[in-house]
Amino acid sequence: MTKFEKCWLNYSLVSEVSGWKDKLSCIFTNLDGKCIENAVKELRVAIPEIIGGNTPGMCICAPCVPSEGIVLKKYDKEDAEYYDDFCPGDEGYAIYYKTDKSLLVIAADTDRGILYGVFAFIRQLQKGITPDKMKIAESPKMPFRMIDHWDNMYGDIERGYSGNSFFYENYRIIIDDRTVFYARMMASIGINAIAINNVNVHQTETLLITDKYLYEVKRINDIFASYGIKLYLSVNYAAPVEMGDVDVSDPLDERVIKWWEKTSKHIYDVIPNFGGYLVKADSEGRPGPFTYGRTHADGANMLARQIAPYGGNVVWRCFVYNCRQDWRDHKTDRARAAYDNFIGLDGEFDDNVVLQIKNGPMDFQIREPVSPLFGGLKKTNMFLEVQIAQEYTGQQRHICYLVPMWKEILEFNTYASENGLVKDIVSGKAYGNTLCGLAAVTNTGNDANWTGHDMAAVNLYGYGRMCFDTELSAEEIGREWIRATFGNDIEINDAIYSMIGTSWHTYENYSSPLGIGWMVNPAGHYGPNVDGYEYDRWGTYHRSDCKGLGIDRSVATGTGYAGQYNEPWSSLYERPETTPEELLLFFHHMDYTYKLSSGKTIIQHIYDTHFKGVEEVETMINTWNSIKEKIDPNVFNRVADRLNIQLESAIDWRDRVNTYYLRMSGIADEKGRTIY
Ligand code: GCU
Repeated sequence: MTKFEKCWLNYSLVSEVSGWKDKLSCIFTNLDGKCIENAVKELRVAIPEIIGGNTPGMCICAPCVPSEGIVLKKYDKEDAEYYDDFCPGDEGYAIYYKTDKSLLVIAADTDRGILYGVFAFIRQLQKGITPDKMKIAESPKMPFRMIDHWDNMYGDIERGYSGNSFFYENYRIIIDDRTVFYARMMASIGINAIAINNVNVHQTETLLITDKYLYEVKRINDIFASYGIKLYLSVNYAAPVEMGDVDVSDPLDERVIKWWEKTSKHIYDVIPNFGGYLVKADSEGRPGPFTYGRTHADGANMLARQIAPYGGNVVWRCFVYNCRQDWRDHKTDRARAAYDNFIGLDGEFDDNVVLQIKNGPMDFQIREPVSPLFGGLKKTNMFLEVQIAQEYTGQQRHICYLVPMWKEILEFNTYASENGLVKDIVSGKAYGNTLCGLAAVTNTGNDANWTGHDMAAVNLYGYGRMCFDTELSAEEIGREWIRATFGNDIEINDAIYSMIGTSWHTYENYSSPLGIGWMVNPAGHYGPNVDGYEYDRWGTYHRSDCKGLGIDRSVATGTGYAGQYNEPWSSLYERPETTPEELLLFFHHMDYTYKLSSGKTIIQHIYDTHFKGVEEVETMINTWNSIKEKIDPNVFNRVADRLNIQLESAIDWRDRVNTYYLRMSGIADEKGRTIY
């Protein structure tokens, strides 16, 4: 096992606790089960570490009426007195302090609710809450809060930047302390579903649903279940063919249906609480129903029907596009693809199918418009898919805090209905469904600090916290993570927050401008290469020439993509003057001399933002150095090394992008700076 650190569960770092001493010396409960055991365990670890003193004693008892201590209990009338109209449901909890009896009560309808309540109480302790103020009642805003691993059984991770997999090594499944710690970390931020293998399912991974690996998968499943997490597996749509059992994977072929029926039954015999299948079909070379002239609804429903009797779900990805495009073809537009492929199927998917839709129409770029599917589909379950792994945003060598971006996406108004914000749609508020929420490609690996860059952990932490409570601000989440990871020192908190807070914009400043995206090295997606994808088959172009750059996606003269939005967006995106400037080049081909609202021309904006981005990284470095004495030397050096790498890369981005556009446009920098 590789060594691992405790990240935000390093409770001993917190020091600012008042009023709790001696009040939490015993835990009372008459609940049982694995989740409850883990909840109790968590309190027994956290309390002495946070407030000092002994490990709390345990009293598993019939409803005794204790005084002084913590009670974990089913939510009932008595708790309701404290909370008018609150109904904890499947995952919510109420926490309050009863002064008359000196009792801290954590009450919920379910074991999972208790576990989340315990973690919430610990967070409050870390924040220094006093007993008289301790009163929270909360249920998660998003029903599903899923994590997708792109881990391969060989042990590598697709787009992994934090070492190798901690689930697999050399085609073996690894189960050790790290697995348990991981489940604990995920529960602490409210994750309730995890897919443990890559969406690109190779032959070995197909074996995960066979007896070769299923019993070990069950062991991981049981660890997850004890932390309230459902386990999912990515499956290959052509598994019946790949296993050599049937010669087609046509979803309407009886033999195929039987194959999945039998396979699914066996999975549920072994793992009765198995979550279900995650599927990437007809996407980037993966097989799917298109091969047989079938729709994605045919494909997804066939699988869904085999697991519906057991309560399983199919998570079906919408990342379906033509990846063999001719760059000379200006009409085919990859951005249109997800909508074009799925909008006609609205209402055709079974209840236990959810479509997993990437946040933007392209592929996790630093800036994209929100996928129009969120405003288009009205009778279909949807997950918003984001990428915690920083594939296109610095690969965990750069600091890039992504919660502000995700928050903007969640707040986007699709105008699909009265409750048309993306967060209303994927929380189920808009259409009253429950199979909905978020899914995220994770950024973990077997590096000691889990996420490669210490600062990248904020994206993992932030993702979970944001899904649980979409009303928390990016700053609240960021500062909470800093406190849990680095302790309560306010100078540290301010310094680190100033480094991460606007790092998304910093990355955007020195990389591709105004929503155009890409410009990365095709091999690996790290570092600048303006034309890296320009004349390739992937549909990812900037179309720069000597006069201007950008893609015309208007209805009138372009690809028509702007027309996939509800009004007023489709009209707003149709014209450059009304397109939000940060997306200008995504929607329009513009002259370099076009004036932005700042009064600057596009070309000057490109030069200025690229110089600014580098300066911002220099400021990050100075800030980090200013708290050197207060940071663990190991962590300090790790982050310092990566900041230097980030600076070098930001300079590279600046110089390559600015040089390219100086040469292409022939227009000099007004400020006369050196551009190579
Ligand atoms: C991106 C990424 C691939 C991944 C794909 C996906 O294209 O580069 O590695 O497989 O997204 O989301 O399926």
